[in-house]
Amino acid sequence: MEVERVQAIASLSLTTDTIPAEFIRPEKEQPAITTFRGPVPEIPTIDLSDPDQENLVRSIANASKEWGIFQVVNHGLPTDVIAKLQAVGKEFFELPPEEKEVYAKIPGSQSIEGYGTQLQKDIDGKKPWVDHLFHKIWPPSAINYRFWPKNPPSYRDANEVYAKYIREVANKLFTSLSLGLGVERHALKEGAGGEDIVYMLKINYYPPCPRPDLALGVVAHTDFSSLTILVPNEVPGLQVLKDDHWIDAKYIPNALIVHIGDQIEILSNGIYRSVLHRSTVDKGKARMSWPVFLEPPGEFVVGPLRQLVNEENPPKYKAKKFKDYAYCKLNKLPQ
Ligand code: OGA
Ligand code: NI
Repeated sequence: MEVERVQAIASLSLTTDTIPAEFIRPEKEQPAITTFRGPVPEIPTIDLSDPDQENLVRSIANASKEWGIFQVVNHGLPTDVIAKLQAVGKEFFELPPEEKEVYAKIPGSQSIEGYGTQLQKDIDGKKPWVDHLFHKIWPPSAINYRFWPKNPPSYRDANEVYAKYIREVANKLFTSLSLGLGVERHALKEGAGGEDIVYMLKINYYPPCPRPDLALGVVAHTDFSSLTILVPNEVPGLQVLKDDHWIDAKYIPNALIVHIGDQIEILSNGIYRSVLHRSTVDKGKARMSWPVFLEPPGEFVVGPLRQLVNEENPPKYKAKKFKDYAYCKLNKLPQ
């Protein structure tokens, strides 16, 4: 079956001022109408190299309670490691269509890995303006290199180096987030899968769009993951819902954007909040982003940390296997 990539639709739309009806969002979602244009508070930016550990823990905990998202700088991920990850991903998406299709998702497969485009329309009959590539980058036993592009040739090395550094950042974040809850420093990481945590990379490719006022990239959602650590390119587009307003994330070169995902909300029994977010698209430029989703293995059971639950604080979430959580969320079933 021939799948229509948004990138192909976009190149046909270049000379027009219209987009196919299935990409025109209902008014309640259109970015031109729903983006907040007043003076806005900014998503917190946190210096991960802060020598004052107590201050660092407090900043991360506050941002995770109030926002569910923050940007981190001085995170230890070298600039050239980020630049290489971005360069090889961009080169992949600029290959001719037939070279990308080699990595297409396998129809009927349970796995989300591979090059793809959302096929089903949502309840309003609409589609997002984005193509993507998913593949795991850690642990080595979970990696399927079939979904790692061979072209450009440095793709593999760039992704392996990135995986090594991002795990160090993730460990620092888990430690501060645990201390911020007043639990033992390893508690959240252990509760989210410990050494078996799967690092799933996604590359989002949002082609230039003739009507960025009417379309959306990814639509409003919270991430299934425990944490998501994302690098964007220089084209802004990420928006988060804060106090009922959709506000833009500022682009900070070389910063990492950390999302609190559903599993940390569950582990913290609702103290940290999984953030509702979406992305807009640009008229003239391709937007790209590289989120890494930290996910528990499918069979791993996640529930509120026992240390946080007592008579006054009953569990607000069920403990369940991550694969069952994901199934319910994907199929819009109650958890
Ligand atoms: C996602 C996502 C946001 C972005 O892929 O889950 O939220 O900035 N992406 O591309
Ligand atoms: Ni997301």
